[in-house]
Amino acid sequence: MTTNDHPNLTVVDHPLIRHKLGLLRSVDTPKKLFRELTDEITTLMAYEATRDLEEETVEVQTPMETMRGSRISGKKMVIVPVLRAGLGMVEGVLRLMPSARVGHVGMARDEKSLEPDEYYFKVPADTASRRFMVVDPMLATGGSAAAVIAGLKRRGALRISVMCIVAAPEGVRALYAAHPDVQLFAAVLDRQLNEVGYIVPGLGDAGDRLFGTK
Ligand code: PRP
Ligand code: URA
Repeated sequence: MTTNDHPNLTVVDHPLIRHKLGLLRSVDTPKKLFRELTDEITTLMAYEATRDLEEETVEVQTPMETMRGSRISGKKMVIVPVLRAGLGMVEGVLRLMPSARVGHVGMARDEKSLEPDEYYFKVPADTASRRFMVVDPMLATGGSAAAVIAGLKRRGALRISVMCIVAAPEGVRALYAAHPDVQLFAAVLDRQLNEVGYIVPGLGDAGDRLFGTK
């Protein structure tokens, strides 16, 4: 579903995603289940977020006859998890595209200024010829995602999308202002950010809930 308010946003809404999202948000959900739900929601979303992959025709010999089939063409996609929380989404995409490459970008959001601080950046070198899918469960101010996209563009990337689970309207708008060419996929668009930059109703701190650091 796309919205008039946010031309860059596709909300991947599906009964299974909504059901799993309710469990993911719950404060009573333990870490093991939180990780499993993050992974499952990612796979369901990735199906939709890869709808525009390019294909080519190939000849297939069935036991009955020869036919024209299809296969994904071009270089392998690069999944780019934003450390840490993005790591929880990597397997969910790899399940559908097991040959995808995986880059890593470390961004830590300063708790006061909410500005992202880059501490690691490693992606395949042939950036111009590959598609990149940035994954991070939370898009709050949009600062982290915008900084990752800017880093990818500086390295020559031309085709970038972002997949998050929970997005805040403030972040969606900021991302559109900074990178109108980048399509964003979210499982849900939440109400707003609170006074300390957390998404409400949200799900809390995704990194802490995935890795048990609080
Ligand atoms: C969280 C989240 C995003 C970022 C979103 O990460 O996983 O990367 O904040 O906020 P923004 O849209 O306002 O930039 P955090 O920096 O807390 O690091 P973590 O993944 O290590 O917990
Ligand atoms: N990062 C999170 O993990 N959660 C939020 O609500 C905002 C940023």
